[in-house]
Amino acid sequence: MDVATNITPPQDGTLTVLGIESSCDETAASVLRRDENGALELLSSIVASQDKEHRPFGGVVPEIAARAHMLKLESIIDKAVTTSGIEYGEIDGIAATAGPGLIGGVIAGLMSAKGLAMSLGKPLIAVNHLEGHALSPRLTEPCEFPYLLLLISGGHSQLLSVTELGAYERLGSTVDDAAGEAFDKTAKVMGLGFPGGPQVEAWAKKGNPEAIPLPRPFKGKAHADFSFAGLKTAVARAYDASDKSDAAKADIAASFQRAVADVLAERTQRAMEMYREKVGQGPQRFVVAGGVAANTELRARLKNLCENNDFTLIAPPLKFCGDNAAMIALAGLERLATGEHHGMEVAARPRWPLDSQAAAHNPASGSGKKGPKS
Ligand code: KG4
Ligand code: ZN
Repeated sequence: MDVATNITPPQDGTLTVLGIESSCDETAASVLRRDENGALELLSSIVASQDKEHRPFGGVVPEIAARAHMLKLESIIDKAVTTSGIEYGEIDGIAATAGPGLIGGVIAGLMSAKGLAMSLGKPLIAVNHLEGHALSPRLTEPCEFPYLLLLISGGHSQLLSVTELGAYERLGSTVDDAAGEAFDKTAKVMGLGFPGGPQVEAWAKKGNPEAIPLPRPFKGKAHADFSFAGLKTAVARAYDASDKSDAAKADIAASFQRAVADVLAERTQRAMEMYREKVGQGPQRFVVAGGVAANTELRARLKNLCENNDFTLIAPPLKFCGDNAAMIALAGLERLATGEHHGMEVAARPRWPLDSQAAAHNPASGSGKKGPKS
């Protein structure tokens, strides 16, 4: 990535960064400050969801998302700065998601960031959205490197070894759907509403998780990859064969959620073994991040898994699991603190794997003109 040379970012002391997020269906902006001792203060975090716009379609429609971002960005950014209590002139850097994500939305957010960076004469930091999720627990607690990371969102499901800022090694990845996608599609099949994850979770509370036999893809495999496509198909078949009553929906939702939790816990356990081969024995840290990390049953399962394997579970609070701009401001701030920032020519990237080497040599979920997916 091109690095700008004409702006010198502050190298020490307090850093204040404006973050902008627009890669999927949340338009978000946030102001984050780090003092000279490294203590973080979140001055504002505004998230405007587009759920209402996408609900009639049962999923995110890229064109509608891009248009909604364009309409909302200016006011959301202004609200984030105004409520933070600082002036625009006190911002040291503008960080924006530059990918991966839906390209129209990413371009809209990045353009806004470029405009602000130019008019304020401040550095621009092009942030990888996945790095935002990866660092998100550091917003609220001292989560030191290294750690094992399970990143589970609507677009990605990956297990990564995180050694330091920018150093990510992929241990496993989905070979088809992301975990969040499986939740969303399950909800869509049964007409439970959008977004699917929270709906399936709510219905699952009323159902029996043992009611419907569902597969546990890749169970016992030596690698740490996931697969959710078969599970999704099995859910569709089970629903077709059911009486479609509320009780049936609840049982399917509960059984599906149990299957996803089983798969994620079992695959994570395998990754823990692989991670230990790298970092050795003794207590380690395990981070779960991304929208699906909001799921209560999954959190409980992962907590149990960590206790049995001498890992400490670190999970961001629910408001920082889903897409938000505080995590983008944090990733930008951490990059800016090392002196990194980018030129105006920096481009939006629909695909941008955290571990680019693994993705190039062994694209887990396919590759195309735009490059490896993950
Ligand atoms: O991280 P995120 O906000 O956006 C992406 O980067 O994709 O994740 C959104 C995903 C959606 O698929 C949504 O259904 C899922 O996270 N999700 C959940 C829950 N809350 C959100 N999945 C399961 N249980 C939840 N409580
Ligand atoms: Zn995300």
